[in-house]
Amino acid sequence: MATFDVSVVGELNLDLIFYGLPEKLELEREHLANDLSITLGSSSAIFTHNFTLLGNKAGFSSSIGSDPFGEICLQRLGECGVDLSHVRKFKGKTTGLTVILPQRKQRYILTYPGTMHEMSLKDLDLSYVFSAKHLHVSSYFLHKALRPDMIELFRRAKEAGLTTSLDTNDDPEGRWSTDILLLLKYVDILLPNENEACKIARTGDVNQAADSLSQKVPLVVIKRGSQGAVLREGKNKLSGFPPITDMVDAVGAGDSFDAGFIHQFIRGAKIEDCLKFANIIGALSVTRAGGTEAFRDAKHRESFLNKYWHTAPGAAPRSARI
Ligand SMILES: Nc1ncnc2c1ncn2[C@@H]1O[C@H](COP(=O)(O)OP(=O)(O)OP(=O)(O)O)[C@@H](O)[C@H]1O
Ligand SMILES: [Mg+2]
Repeated sequence: MATFDVSVVGELNLDLIFYGLPEKLELEREHLANDLSITLGSSSAIFTHNFTLLGNKAGFSSSIGSDPFGEICLQRLGECGVDLSHVRKFKGKTTGLTVILPQRKQRYILTYPGTMHEMSLKDLDLSYVFSAKHLHVSSYFLHKALRPDMIELFRRAKEAGLTTSLDTNDDPEGRWSTDILLLLKYVDILLPNENEACKIARTGDVNQAADSLSQKVPLVVIKRGSQGAVLREGKNKLSGFPPITDMVDAVGAGDSFDAGFIHQFIRGAKIEDCLKFANIIGALSVTRAGGTEAFRDAKHRESFLNKYWHTAPGAAPRSARI
């Protein structure tokens, strides 16, 4: 029996989100934000946090430095019941940090990688990682030390009987090197956004990217912001839209979408329902600051789910872990 529903291997940092800055930032001028959110960041941690609050059990293999920011991250994850026994503390190192400057519908994202560049395969307890039904990895390009062994990690996960998913997120170097194509051999669900899918597939067209990537993985789901997502499962083509909501910011919407999709996938839900639920969870994320605030507010989360998720009783999470 697997201990966890999902095992997540990945990065852990806070997001500092500055709202209301002028669109054009000038050197040597003092620019004032009109609001600030200091919140749990990083794709892997947002996924783990929200997946847990949907009523699942997640194992989390990650790292922090010996600074207070790392401790705040742990506190946020601990509050929602994530198992923190395998978050390593690298002495004398600094936890990563991301500063986000939203601008209308887009945003600047500045990340200091810190310990996310340090964690390697030898830092992982593989018996812990594989004691789950499913392995999820995000931010492939940020895992500098782990990346050379990512194929080995996924290959062994498959060997251990886990299903797998990958959300690449952006490549900060903009190289989109082809090593990722070798990894796809061991990926069951690929969850990039539109831009990332096009870069991996080396095309400018999202449908072409979907068609091309669907020849490499059993299931590809491409996120398209307020336009929802397109999915390919072999020759089966689907698209789905999120409910229209008031948006605070779209930080972590993709990771929340992933959490919703995997929540249904590991329950053996129909692929249409995985997509529908994922879009609802992605939309929930944009209703509050950052990637986790909409989920931490149990009342808000539950009423959103009750409003938009109408399927068979028991198919959707109705109660929180908190
Ligand atoms: N404005 C919006 N209104 C409603 N839902 C949204 C909106 N923006 C995003 N979503 C939902 O969130 C999902 C993921 O969005 P997005 O395309 O921003 O992913 P991403 O770029 O991977 O995000 P991330 O910043 O987390 O990496 C969408 O497919 C959709 O379901
Ligand atoms: Mg993303």
